[in-house]
Amino acid sequence: MLNERQLHDKTFHTFISEDEILNAVKKLAIQLEQEYEGKDLLFVAILNGAFMFASDLMKNFTSDVAISFVKVSSYHGIQTTGRVDELIGLNTSLLGKHVVILEDIVDTGITIDKVIALLNSNYPESVEVCTLLYKPEAYLGKHKPKYIGFEIPNKFVVGYGLDYNELGRNLKELYQLKEK
Ligand code: IMP
Repeated sequence: MLNERQLHDKTFHTFISEDEILNAVKKLAIQLEQEYEGKDLLFVAILNGAFMFASDLMKNFTSDVAISFVKVSSYHGIQTTGRVDELIGLNTSLLGKHVVILEDIVDTGITIDKVIALLNSNYPESVEVCTLLYKPEAYLGKHKPKYIGFEIPNKFVVGYGLDYNELGRNLKELYQLKEK
Protein backbone atom coordinates (compact mmCIF):
# COMPACT_ATOMS: atom_id res chain seq x y z
CA MET A 1 0.00 0.00 0.00
CA LEU A 2 1.33 3.41 -0.97
CA ASN A 3 1.09 6.05 1.70
CA GLU A 4 0.33 9.57 0.59
CA ARG A 5 1.60 12.85 1.94
CA GLN A 6 0.49 16.37 1.05
CA LEU A 7 3.21 19.08 1.00
CA HIS A 8 2.06 22.59 0.04
CA ASP A 9 -0.01 22.11 -3.17
CA LYS A 10 1.40 18.71 -4.19
CA THR A 11 0.69 15.09 -3.28
CA PHE A 12 3.52 12.58 -2.89
CA HIS A 13 3.45 8.81 -2.39
CA THR A 14 5.94 6.50 -0.68
CA PHE A 15 8.75 5.46 -3.01
CA ILE A 16 11.78 4.02 -1.14
CA SER A 17 11.36 2.71 2.42
CA GLU A 18 13.49 3.61 5.41
CA ASP A 19 14.93 0.06 5.52
CA GLU A 20 15.89 0.16 1.84
CA ILE A 21 17.59 3.54 2.31
CA LEU A 22 19.51 2.44 5.41
CA ASN A 23 20.66 -0.77 3.67
CA ALA A 24 21.91 1.21 0.67
CA VAL A 25 23.71 3.69 2.95
CA LYS A 26 25.36 0.82 4.84
CA LYS A 27 26.56 -0.74 1.56
CA LEU A 28 28.03 2.58 0.43
CA ALA A 29 29.84 2.97 3.77
CA ILE A 30 31.36 -0.53 3.47
CA GLN A 31 32.44 0.10 -0.13
CA LEU A 32 34.01 3.48 0.69
CA GLU A 33 35.72 2.08 3.76
CA GLN A 34 37.34 -0.67 1.66
CA GLU A 35 38.36 1.59 -1.21
CA TYR A 36 39.82 4.36 0.97
CA GLU A 37 41.57 2.11 3.52
CA GLY A 38 44.81 3.74 4.70
CA LYS A 39 44.05 7.01 2.85
CA ASP A 40 43.51 10.48 4.29
CA LEU A 41 39.75 10.70 3.59
CA LEU A 42 37.60 13.82 3.84
CA PHE A 43 33.85 13.82 3.22
CA VAL A 44 32.47 17.09 1.86
CA ALA A 45 28.69 17.08 2.41
CA ILE A 46 26.59 19.54 0.45
CA LEU A 47 23.98 21.36 2.49
CA ASN A 48 21.10 21.44 2.93
CA GLY A 49 19.83 18.21 1.40
CA ALA A 50 22.69 15.84 2.26
CA PHE A 51 22.56 16.29 6.06
CA MET A 52 20.61 13.08 6.79
CA PHE A 53 22.54 10.97 4.28
CA ALA A 54 25.87 12.29 5.64
CA SER A 55 24.77 11.55 9.21
CA ASP A 56 23.78 7.92 8.50
CA LEU A 57 26.86 7.32 6.35
CA MET A 58 29.11 8.62 9.15
CA LYS A 59 27.37 6.37 11.70
CA ASN A 60 28.16 3.33 9.52
CA PHE A 61 31.80 4.30 9.07
CA THR A 62 34.18 2.71 11.56
CA SER A 63 37.57 3.94 10.22
CA ASP A 64 38.87 7.48 10.79
CA VAL A 65 37.24 10.06 8.55
CA ALA A 66 36.80 13.85 8.64
CA ILE A 67 33.80 15.78 7.34
CA SER A 68 33.13 19.35 6.17
CA PHE A 69 29.66 20.71 5.47
CA VAL A 70 29.57 23.20 2.60
CA LYS A 71 27.11 25.35 0.70
CA VAL A 72 27.49 26.52 -2.87
CA SER A 73 26.64 30.15 -3.37
CA SER A 74 26.55 32.25 -6.52
CA TYR A 75 26.97 36.02 -6.53
CA HIS A 76 27.66 38.80 -9.01
CA GLY A 77 31.26 39.96 -8.54
CA ILE A 78 31.86 43.71 -8.32
CA GLN A 79 34.38 43.72 -11.19
CA THR A 80 32.94 40.98 -13.32
CA THR A 81 29.66 40.75 -15.14
CA GLY A 82 29.38 36.98 -14.82
CA ARG A 83 28.31 34.89 -11.86
CA VAL A 84 30.97 33.77 -9.41
CA ASP A 85 30.56 30.53 -7.49
CA GLU A 86 32.08 29.95 -4.10
CA LEU A 87 32.05 27.19 -1.52
CA ILE A 88 31.10 28.36 1.97
CA GLY A 89 32.27 26.31 4.93
CA LEU A 90 35.31 24.53 3.57
CA ASN A 91 37.63 25.46 6.40
CA THR A 92 40.33 22.84 5.96
CA SER A 93 43.26 22.32 3.60
CA LEU A 94 42.72 19.71 0.88
CA LEU A 95 46.42 19.12 0.19
CA GLY A 96 47.08 15.37 0.21
CA LYS A 97 43.43 14.57 1.00
CA HIS A 98 41.16 12.16 -0.81
CA VAL A 99 37.82 13.95 -1.04
CA VAL A 100 34.44 12.25 -1.39
CA ILE A 101 31.56 14.65 -2.03
CA LEU A 102 28.31 13.57 -0.35
CA GLU A 103 25.16 14.61 -2.23
CA ASP A 104 21.52 13.73 -1.61
CA ILE A 105 20.65 13.72 -5.31
CA VAL A 106 22.41 14.28 -8.62
CA ASP A 107 19.90 15.54 -11.15
CA THR A 108 21.36 17.60 -14.05
CA GLY A 109 24.82 17.36 -12.44
CA ILE A 110 25.36 21.14 -12.56
CA THR A 111 25.82 21.40 -8.79
CA ILE A 112 28.46 18.67 -8.50
CA ASP A 113 30.34 19.94 -11.57
CA LYS A 114 30.63 23.32 -9.82
CA VAL A 115 31.64 21.78 -6.50
CA ILE A 116 34.27 19.56 -8.16
CA ALA A 117 35.79 22.56 -9.99
CA LEU A 118 35.89 24.59 -6.75
CA LEU A 119 37.44 21.72 -4.78
CA ASN A 120 40.03 20.97 -7.48
CA SER A 121 41.34 24.52 -7.18
CA ASN A 122 42.44 23.54 -3.63
CA TYR A 123 44.70 20.72 -4.91
CA PRO A 124 43.19 17.60 -3.31
CA GLU A 125 44.80 14.23 -4.01
CA SER A 126 41.53 12.97 -5.56
CA VAL A 127 37.83 13.87 -5.77
CA GLU A 128 34.90 11.47 -6.22
CA VAL A 129 31.13 11.81 -5.76
CA CYS A 130 28.92 9.64 -3.56
CA THR A 131 25.21 10.32 -4.00
CA LEU A 132 22.21 8.60 -2.48
CA LEU A 133 20.08 9.26 -5.58
CA TYR A 134 20.97 9.65 -9.25
CA LYS A 135 18.62 10.53 -12.12
CA PRO A 136 20.40 9.20 -15.26
CA GLU A 137 17.73 10.61 -17.63
CA ALA A 138 18.27 14.15 -16.33
CA TYR A 139 22.06 14.03 -16.11
CA LEU A 140 23.99 16.46 -18.35
CA GLY A 141 27.24 16.74 -16.40
CA LYS A 142 30.84 15.74 -16.93
CA HIS A 143 31.42 13.70 -13.77
CA LYS A 144 29.05 10.77 -13.35
CA PRO A 145 29.01 9.86 -9.63
CA LYS A 146 31.19 6.86 -8.81
CA TYR A 147 29.19 5.81 -5.74
CA ILE A 148 25.40 5.66 -6.14
CA GLY A 149 22.71 4.45 -3.72
CA PHE A 150 19.76 4.33 -6.15
CA GLU A 151 19.28 5.19 -9.82
CA ILE A 152 15.77 6.67 -10.03
CA PRO A 153 13.40 7.91 -12.77
CA ASN A 154 13.31 11.60 -13.65
CA LYS A 155 10.52 12.46 -11.21
CA PHE A 156 10.58 14.84 -8.27
CA VAL A 157 11.22 13.21 -4.88
CA VAL A 158 11.19 14.41 -1.27
CA GLY A 159 12.11 13.07 2.15
CA TYR A 160 15.30 11.93 3.90
CA GLY A 161 16.74 15.46 3.69
CA LEU A 162 15.24 16.44 0.34
CA ASP A 163 12.59 19.13 0.26
CA TYR A 164 9.76 20.60 -1.74
CA ASN A 165 9.89 24.32 -0.90
CA GLU A 166 11.54 23.51 2.44
CA LEU A 167 8.99 20.88 3.51
CA GLY A 168 9.54 17.12 3.60
CA ARG A 169 13.16 17.02 4.78
CA ASN A 170 12.17 15.32 8.05
CA LEU A 171 10.52 12.28 6.42
CA LYS A 172 12.36 9.01 7.12
CA GLU A 173 11.46 7.49 3.76
CA LEU A 174 11.55 8.85 0.20
CA TYR A 175 8.36 10.03 -1.49
CA GLN A 176 7.74 10.59 -5.19
CA LEU A 177 5.48 13.22 -6.77
CA LYS A 178 2.11 11.65 -7.58
CA GLU A 179 1.10 11.64 -11.26
CA LYS A 180 -2.15 13.48 -11.99
P1 IMP B 1 21.54 19.34 -10.09
O1 IMP B 1 22.49 20.50 -9.99
O2 IMP B 1 20.52 19.53 -11.19
O3 IMP B 1 22.21 18.00 -10.16
O4 IMP B 1 20.61 19.37 -8.82
C1 IMP B 1 21.07 19.13 -7.58
C2 IMP B 1 20.20 19.76 -6.53
O5 IMP B 1 18.84 20.02 -6.99
C3 IMP B 1 20.06 18.79 -5.39
O6 IMP B 1 21.10 18.97 -4.45
C4 IMP B 1 18.69 19.14 -4.84
O7 IMP B 1 18.82 20.19 -3.92
C5 IMP B 1 17.90 19.63 -6.02
N1 IMP B 1 17.05 18.56 -6.60
C6 IMP B 1 17.19 17.95 -7.80
N2 IMP B 1 16.24 17.01 -7.98
C7 IMP B 1 15.46 17.02 -6.86
C8 IMP B 1 14.31 16.26 -6.43
O8 IMP B 1 13.77 15.36 -7.11
N3 IMP B 1 13.83 16.57 -5.20
C9 IMP B 1 14.36 17.53 -4.40
N4 IMP B 1 15.43 18.26 -4.76
C10 IMP B 1 15.98 18.02 -5.98
